Amino acid sequence: MLSAVRRVASANPAAMMRPLTSLTMTSAFSTSSSAYAPHNVKNITVFGSGLMGAGIVQVAAQNAFNVTMVDLNPEALKKGQDIIASSLKRVAKKQFPEDAAQQKEFIDKTMGQIKTSTDSEAASKDADLIIEAIVENLKTKQQLFSMLDKVAPEHTLFCSNTSSLPIGEIAKATKRTDRFGGLHFFNPVPQMKLVEVIRTEETSQDSFDSLMDVCTRMKKTPVSCKDTPGFIVNRLLVPYMMESLRIVERGEATPQDVDVAMKLGAGFPMGPFELADFVGLDTMKFIVDGWRKEGKIDDNLVAPVKLLDDLVAQGNFGRKSGQGFYPYNGVGGKK
Ligand code: 3HC
Repeated sequence: MLSAVRRVASANPAAMMRPLTSLTMTSAFSTSSSAYAPHNVKNITVFGSGLMGAGIVQVAAQNAFNVTMVDLNPEALKKGQDIIASSLKRVAKKQFPEDAAQQKEFIDKTMGQIKTSTDSEAASKDADLIIEAIVENLKTKQQLFSMLDKVAPEHTLFCSNTSSLPIGEIAKATKRTDRFGGLHFFNPVPQMKLVEVIRTEETSQDSFDSLMDVCTRMKKTPVSCKDTPGFIVNRLLVPYMMESLRIVERGEATPQDVDVAMKLGAGFPMGPFELADFVGLDTMKFIVDGWRKEGKIDDNLVAPVKLLDDLVAQGNFGRKSGQGFYPYNGVGGKK
């Protein structure tokens, strides 16, 4: 028994932090996913090759997982590969400054870990873990997981990278709610060290341990959170950004001054308007509108702000559209 505990603990440092009794009980008595050996994820399939999906694929590949990136068509996959290639160049330069040969070897090796596919069924056949990072639409996500539930192996863990939808609602589309959780990464994925690991009421201990272990093996720092609106980071960040907009709407300060204030007075790497443009104003509005409908968060925190609604209605989504609170040098360009 003790050696089993040691094995689990050394494979998963996060498990070390739990009291020995709960760990021992879990190892000895958990029967919720007996077909599944925890901490054994090798093959990861990621659905969605946008900024988040591509970032997750990159980080997994950099850390020796075999990764398959899936999207609807070759054009989308090509965009995802381009995102990865340019990000890998930055990472390679940082890791091997002034050694072009090693940079190239690192990039080629990482790219070699990545397969691409437009065939969802084939791409799921060998997956130990499926991470979904597609459009933020509950029905679309449910349809995808319902289909995957029928074709993926029994042991395969399912995860969503959603930032705004309840994990439990997405999981309901499957019969493997015990092997379903959330893995919420942050933009830019290769740079941000945090992953929120979301467990629903039904996520089994084995599944949760495996997700924590995957994050650690991706060299990320996982934190755990219940399936609540915004989890930890967005629950704090989005109301803060909305309150910044209200300061400007009331004419109390300019976006520029608020940004300077929060960077130099609070040590944030970006001010709230720079961050809102970075996250996407459409994404921010989508999150707030969703929370308002759900009614689980204080009305004052999620009250609409005309400034945001107008910019989104005009198609000014921030960095991704070339214009938000600030103008950008083309789509996705610099300020
Ligand atoms: N790939 C790899 N590395 C990257 C990268 C990428 N796509 N983007 C930035 N980096 C690295 C750079 O290589 C550089 O590394 P170094 O410091 O070791 O040399 C470092 O990040 C800093 O990059 P830059 O010098 O180009 O730019 P900045 O210093 O302005 O930093 C930033 C850019 C990392 C984005 C920083 O401003 C930051 O941390 N901003 C806050 C981002 C944030 O809060 N993200 C969370 C958003 S919320 C979210 O994602 C949740 C969602 O659900 C809405």
